[in-house]
Amino acid sequence: MKAVIPAAGLGTRFLPMTKNTPKEMLPVVDKPAIQYVVEEAINSGIDDIIIITGRGKEVIENHFDVAYELEKILEERGEREKLEEIRRISELADIFYVRQKKALGLGHAIYKAKKLIGDEFFAVLLGDDIIVARKPCILQLKEVYEKYNATVIAVQEVEKENVSKYGIIEGEEVEEGVYKVKRLVEKPSLEEAPSNIAIMGRYILSPFIFECIERTKPGKNNEIQLTDALNLLLEKEDIYAIKFDGKRYDLGDKFDWLCINIEMALQREEFKEKLIDYLKKLLNYVG
Ligand code: UTP
Repeated sequence: MKAVIPAAGLGTRFLPMTKNTPKEMLPVVDKPAIQYVVEEAINSGIDDIIIITGRGKEVIENHFDVAYELEKILEERGEREKLEEIRRISELADIFYVRQKKALGLGHAIYKAKKLIGDEFFAVLLGDDIIVARKPCILQLKEVYEKYNATVIAVQEVEKENVSKYGIIEGEEVEEGVYKVKRLVEKPSLEEAPSNIAIMGRYILSPFIFECIERTKPGKNNEIQLTDALNLLLEKEDIYAIKFDGKRYDLGDKFDWLCINIEMALQREEFKEKLIDYLKKLLNYVG
């Protein structure tokens, strides 16, 4: 199975940082967000990866490329550990890049991969969503796909007042944590929302989605929305949703970015004690 990582969005919620730096390159402790996403695909057995990029996103390609000068200098200095880490990144996977010339929405971005995907089911991992989980999230979706042979989307329950930030599903639970989807609504108001079960940045999609995207008219924000295309797909094929086990962070959101940095740093032995000490002092001071 191949994976598509859309990373061509403008990241307007994270301005001014994203004026000239892709949000997918925001650091989470010491790695850019998109590296966590690529590693999730690889840890799920997917190593053919297509990244959808756009203008100003060249640093993403450079990050996964060989850094010849840097490698040479690290070698001369005998910094073996750093050298291996840097080399490992460029050897992670076969990565292909396709440019989305205009940020016309997630559906439009995914459509750009049509020629490279062909007639197979494929995975989609949003380049700015990090999911921290014991079992990689996209692997959890793959297992449901293998059982039902249909499109699978990742979902989680959200607070009622947050439904208007997400695509929301209406579904029937067919086994614990797995739903057969009846309807999807993009960013509904609290009154319109059929549930509080929200779509979260990971999908296994049927190739039929490309035909559906072709028929999808621009929706919210004048963008071609994947959720609208999924509703067209639902007219002909089944869609399942899995309430995955894990915690999701939207790096396009400033607060989520702050939280994941603190949480990931607390998981690292080198920072844990120092950071707890620092936070205690800081909270005493503020309090
Ligand atoms: P978002 O919904 O977070 O959109 O995209 P955005 O436009 O980048 O962010 P804001 O709302 O302006 O802050 C979800 C994922 O889809 C990609 C983004 O890069 C992100 O990984 N995307 C979105 C595209 O590749 N192309 C698009 O036209 C829109």
